[in-house]
Amino acid sequence: MEVIIKNNYQEVSDAAAEYLLNVVKNKPNAVLGLPTGSSPTGMYKIVVDEYKNNNVSFENVKTFNLDEYMGLDRSNDQSYYYFMNENLYSHVNLKPENINIPNGMAKDINQESIRYENKLKAEGPMDIMFLGIGNNGHIGFNEPNEYFEPFTHEVNLTQDTIEANARFFEKIEDVPTKAITMGVKTISSARKIVLIATGSAKATAIAKAVKGKITPQVPASILQMHDDVTVIIDKEAASKL
Ligand code: F6R
Repeated sequence: MEVIIKNNYQEVSDAAAEYLLNVVKNKPNAVLGLPTGSSPTGMYKIVVDEYKNNNVSFENVKTFNLDEYMGLDRSNDQSYYYFMNENLYSHVNLKPENINIPNGMAKDINQESIRYENKLKAEGPMDIMFLGIGNNGHIGFNEPNEYFEPFTHEVNLTQDTIEANARFFEKIEDVPTKAITMGVKTISSARKIVLIATGSAKATAIAKAVKGKITPQVPASILQMHDDVTVIIDKEAASKL
């Protein structure tokens, strides 16, 4: 694992955006794996600016998002589709048919998981996957568990994650308790992985992920098994390394 330590959120965003833009500029039909959350919004802003300056095109790019809440449809402003539309999709020339995000409204989540895996198998592998990390070490919505879930699947969110996500909702009761997420093998199938994190709340999770025991209790620790992972963090997130 390569660890790059930056001074602040802006520098982390710049460095992550450079990875994304280089992949797309070198491979116009690149397949990207993308996260939502606070960590990547700065990166998306830089990417959108670069597009608006006519320096990059997404015409033939495909995207696969990591996860989606169950029970929120695309028009719900808390859905991850809505987030991605606000932060990226609606600002660049991605074709709607090239945008992939698990359908959290699917009647049969097992079927939806299989569909998503098959789509990725047919169109992938992802050239680069970006990840954030939860305070509890989750990646996507792979929460601390007794075992690693390899493929896309339904999850019950932990109380930690529900509380962390409550900041985006009016009240904690509104936070969905279930989600659909890529599994750790799905994530690891990306050729390259870039994990970004900032702030002291992430410091323990980063230390465990980068140099701790590989355990499903810290889902991000599985990234130590991948050949090409770059962790881009600020000083606070690096403070326990
Ligand atoms: C989001 C996702 C989550 C977040 C993580 C960190 O699609 O998969 O694993 O990356 O919860 O979230 P932020 O960046 O908001 O701290």
